[in-house]
Amino acid sequence: MLPSLEKSAYEILSVPLKGNESIKSLETFIFLENKLLPFIDRQTTLIAIGGGAIGDVVGFSASVLLRGIPWIYLPTTLLSQVDSSIGGKTAINSTFGKNLIGSFHFPSLVITDTTFLKTLTKKQIASGLVELTKHALIEDRDLFDELEQNHTKILNDIDLLPSYIFKSIQLKVKIIDQDWFEEDQGTRQYLNLGHTFAHAFESITKNENSLLHGEAVALGLCAAYDLAVQQGACCVQDRDRVKNYLNSIDMPTYYQELLFSDKTQKYFKVDKKKKGEKITFILPKGIGKGCHLFSVSQPNTQKIFSLFSVN
Ligand SMILES: NC(=O)c1ccc[n+]([C@@H]2O[C@H](COP(=O)([O-])OP(=O)(O)OC[C@H]3O[C@@H](n4cnc5c(N)ncnc54)[C@H](O)[C@@H]3O)[C@@H](O)[C@H]2O)c1
Ligand SMILES: [Zn+2]
Repeated sequence: MLPSLEKSAYEILSVPLKGNESIKSLETFIFLENKLLPFIDRQTTLIAIGGGAIGDVVGFSASVLLRGIPWIYLPTTLLSQVDSSIGGKTAINSTFGKNLIGSFHFPSLVITDTTFLKTLTKKQIASGLVELTKHALIEDRDLFDELEQNHTKILNDIDLLPSYIFKSIQLKVKIIDQDWFEEDQGTRQYLNLGHTFAHAFESITKNENSLLHGEAVALGLCAAYDLAVQQGACCVQDRDRVKNYLNSIDMPTYYQELLFSDKTQKYFKVDKKKKGEKITFILPKGIGKGCHLFSVSQPNTQKIFSLFSVN
């Protein structure tokens, strides 16, 4: 890709970055700032080529350098193709928690090329499938039925992915179109299904046994479905289908140990959906039936969680 860009009429500066969660940091931003500021002006476009972590940090840098310059994104993981390349959220992590520094800065163009996916491991594909599944769980029961039936074929044949990627993008765009900047009570918050839990789990495990984002979301979905059943928002059958499905694509479903870690409470305290002492969880109404917002005062969360069913 770089040689063809270099042959173009544009002046190209390439900056290689490692592509994993650790680069979503202020240090990377400062590194990029030092590399880029001597060369750029407001006509410069940043091009991010990589998974969700690269997209988030490059998008964030584009949003603040010179008060905002355009960027283009070529997502290279399934997760970034079905989810993080859509919707304009950019972020880096803080020592207080995940994605706490960020902005809305939509890329001018997203180029989704599925040939990138050929080099992903099966675990990385499954991790992307979790976010795709999240969109089905929020608003498309038929798609969930299809994923449930075809997951083995999908995981083993990436040629089947393009139509699912397209569907996932359509579902996410439909929600974002109603609520571009995640307003209070807006439907965009539904896209955070499972994520209050997932972000805490990811932050706790970041140094040892670190989880892929999709693995953390799988655990977060299980916790969200358990909470939804406990609160009478969702039936047991739908909850069990979701957990069985996540198991069958080899994603983790046992979150209880992480949930009862003291550190989880610390990360809930800095969740972006928090208002004062209240933390908002997104509860699914079932499969493909939308969500409820459920606010709990933070000190009460342990009590509620201790009532969860653990099957
Ligand atoms: N901005 C958003 O709206 C949004 C939405 C969802 C997730 N995210 C963020 O996205 C990140 C997760 O993204 P991810 O799952 O792509 O993880 P990632 O970007 O950390 O990449 C995972 C691994 O895949 C490797 N990789 C990337 N492309 C590859 C390819 N084509 N072949 C082989 N290996 C490849 C990377 O080097 C890395 O080791 C998280 O930080 C999450 O918070 C952002
Ligand atoms: Zn996510």
